[in-house]
Amino acid sequence: MQIPWISTPIRSVLAIWHQFIKNEIPELSKCSVLMRDRARVEETIYSMKRTGPSGLQVISDFDMTLTRFSYKGQRVPTTHNILDNRLLIDEDCEKKIKRLLNTYYPIEIDAQLSPEQKQPLMVEWWSKVHELLIEQKIRKNMLERVVRESGSRLREGYREFFDLLSELQVPLLIFSAGIGDVLEEVIRQNNVFHPNVNVISNYMDFDAAGVLQAFKGQLIHTFNKREGALLHGARLRGRPNVLLLGDSLGDLNMADGLSNTEHILTIGFLNDQVEERKESYVKSFDIVLVKDETLEIPNVILKNILKPQVRWSKRL
Ligand code: TMP
Ligand code: MG
Repeated sequence: MQIPWISTPIRSVLAIWHQFIKNEIPELSKCSVLMRDRARVEETIYSMKRTGPSGLQVISDFDMTLTRFSYKGQRVPTTHNILDNRLLIDEDCEKKIKRLLNTYYPIEIDAQLSPEQKQPLMVEWWSKVHELLIEQKIRKNMLERVVRESGSRLREGYREFFDLLSELQVPLLIFSAGIGDVLEEVIRQNNVFHPNVNVISNYMDFDAAGVLQAFKGQLIHTFNKREGALLHGARLRGRPNVLLLGDSLGDLNMADGLSNTEHILTIGFLNDQVEERKESYVKSFDIVLVKDETLEIPNVILKNILKPQVRWSKRL
């Protein structure tokens, strides 16, 4: 586009600069990557890169964001569903939890309902499931084995993601409406529970004998992460640039407890009901990854922000 009032040399510099940042992340051209405004995404990455690792924090959802949605045609269990093991719950309880999943999951992802309409129904779902789990007298010492026996799977590229953030001391806050004790065991068993990782989630409260008696604190479900973020704001403060990863529109509120942010780049995994939800995801997230079971794009962006030398060494 010709802008008459900009002199020719300035225009040339702008064109070269634009070309430079445009070519920076070729992976963004993949057909599984949707963006409402690619130039803005690239400019945000460029600004974050100028501040570098010391200004960045990553806030990520867990289930179906850091874990895969499916593997070899089977759904990968969420932290709640990992507990579906006869060592912990009986057949009747399993049936009840499955029935609840079949009733409420379609509501959670329904593109026609607003978050406000979903809120009370999510409270109902979580509360009923937690009640059932408490009735089962779940034993803490069984969790390690149950996670090991589950088909839980982090997304491809998870090791690079966790290791890179740890290496450069970038805080990673995992903000999950799942079950914290199970989530921690999953990342521990994958050897990526590094010291820079902090978790906000629903934690189990065990009695002195190690038997589940309640859940601690305020319930977190998919559509009240804003309240959780405000409540735990102190754990979020300090770094102006945020890379946020989620798979639900409710995950967009995970950074709401932050003040003094400069740049927030949001990445949404669109795993299910793609056609129905595509429009709202593209409107709400800066980058939408359609049926992408990997962390390739977040990793490429992180490497770009954190390790300028990687780019140069590739070009030379
Ligand atoms: P997340 O915040 O880490 O994504 O965890 C929340 C997910 O857990 C949400 O997408 C729904 C899912 N979930 C189950 O799979 N089973 C359950 O029983 C409940 C209550 C939630
Ligand atoms: Mg999720």
